[in-house]
Amino acid sequence: MIKIDKVIKNYQNGETEVKALRGVSLEIQKGEFTSIAGPSGSGKTTLLNLIGCIDKLDLGEISIKGEKVSSMNKKEKTSFRRQNLGFIFQTYNLIPVLSAYENVAFVLSLLDVSEKDVHTRTMNVLKEVGLEGMEDRKPAKLSGGQQQRVAIARALVKDPEIVLADEPTANLDSTTGEDILKLMKSMNEKLGTTFIFSTHDPMVMDYAGRIVLLHDGLIKSDKNRR
Ligand SMILES: Nc1ncnc2c1ncn2[C@@H]1O[C@H](COP(=O)(O)OP(=O)(O)O)[C@@H](O)[C@H]1O
Ligand SMILES: [Mg+2]
Repeated sequence: MIKIDKVIKNYQNGETEVKALRGVSLEIQKGEFTSIAGPSGSGKTTLLNLIGCIDKLDLGEISIKGEKVSSMNKKEKTSFRRQNLGFIFQTYNLIPVLSAYENVAFVLSLLDVSEKDVHTRTMNVLKEVGLEGMEDRKPAKLSGGQQQRVAIARALVKDPEIVLADEPTANLDSTTGEDILKLMKSMNEKLGTTFIFSTHDPMVMDYAGRIVLLHDGLIKSDKNRR
């Protein structure tokens, strides 16, 4: 499903070069619920952004569903991302002036989906994540956990094969964070969606089927937990 081969990524920080990924190789199968773990600065966000076709690597290769995304140009990456990938962020990244409904429906309006289907699919997915009756609320009128539920609905509404979540529970209290993890896990089981989520929180890792531990831009360990 996802093949990451000897990936190297450096950032230029003024005069100094930061080696964010120093040769990472990893394969992720369809339907996995994988955590990218590691301390702050270990390269988790960099790796997720490369898988997510948001950033460009320096060396190595990434292919997703047999397509070599690391060789795509910007336009091809955008199109691939829209069709195949969903994103969840630590800070939810909802559009403040749009309602929960509109934040989710917006994603489908970028794809070739009829108006009627946009409505049905948006209402269904909001119900799935437990937000029935809150469709008209703007993000500011929702709790952090509810906002993250909107973000999960937004990631799932296009039925992507892969969802990437960068520290999805870092801004939530532990009980709400656990609820969000349980929701992600149930969607993974129900829809077969491949989830890859980063965290430095052991409680969050505990939900993962597999833990890939990064340290200083290298994979330190890779453990299957079932
Ligand atoms: N845009 C950037 N410019 C310069 N350095 C960066 C940039 N993004 C990340 N880095 C550096 O790359 C390393 C890995 O960062 P990151 O992938 O964000 O780690 P993590 O998500 O595990 O905290 C860190 O040393 C960080 O400071
Ligand atoms: Mg990060």
